[in-house]
Amino acid sequence: MNVVICDDYQHMSTLASRAFIDCLQSNPRAVLGLATGSTPIGCYKNLIDSYKAGNISFAEVTSFNLDEYIGLHRDHPQSYYYFMHQQFLNQVDIQSQRVFIPSGVEENYGVYCQWYEDRINEAGGIDLQILGIGSDGHIAFNEPGTALGSRTHITDLDHQTIDDNARFFDSKSDVPKRAITMGVATIMDAKKIILLATGENKAAAIRDAIQGPVGSECTASALQQHPNVTFYLDKAAAALLHNE
Ligand code: PGA
Repeated sequence: MNVVICDDYQHMSTLASRAFIDCLQSNPRAVLGLATGSTPIGCYKNLIDSYKAGNISFAEVTSFNLDEYIGLHRDHPQSYYYFMHQQFLNQVDIQSQRVFIPSGVEENYGVYCQWYEDRINEAGGIDLQILGIGSDGHIAFNEPGTALGSRTHITDLDHQTIDDNARFFDSKSDVPKRAITMGVATIMDAKKIILLATGENKAAAIRDAIQGPVGSECTASALQQHPNVTFYLDKAAAALLHNE
């Protein structure tokens, strides 16, 4: 596991986008695992700039997003479908038939979750996965208590996640209570993983993820067992790590 302490958000975003650019330059048909949240926005901006400068293309890329709120249609401004298209996908040359974002409005999630797993496998697995981390230690919406062997599933959101995400909604009561998410084991199948975190409200989760016991109370701790993972942190997010 690699841990890189960055000077600031911009530096972190530059290093994260460089990982994507390296991946695409060595394999233009790469399968990318994408994340929502405020943390990766700078990385996506850099990738848009790099695309517009002619340095990279997404024309042959396939992408899979981590999660989506249950009950929000894709045209809802807080849906992750909407977020991804606004922040990134609409501004690059990715082909819509190769963009996969879990649907929040399916009738039969038993079938749909397996379908999503099957699409990832059919694409050959995820080459590079970007992650944020919740203040409760979640990766995607794998909340505390989620089995580390989990695959794509429906989950109840933790009260801490609902509090954290209320800032994006008119009121806390508007935050959906459930989500569809890739499981921890789905994420762990990615060949390479980068996790980004900034700010002191992530410091405890980062400490638990990197130096705590591996267990479902902090699902990010599973990453300790991944062969190719790099954490990009600002100083505030890294503040509770102790030297080993
Ligand atoms: P954030 O969310 O980037 O908005 O902090 C991260 C997460 O919940 O995984």
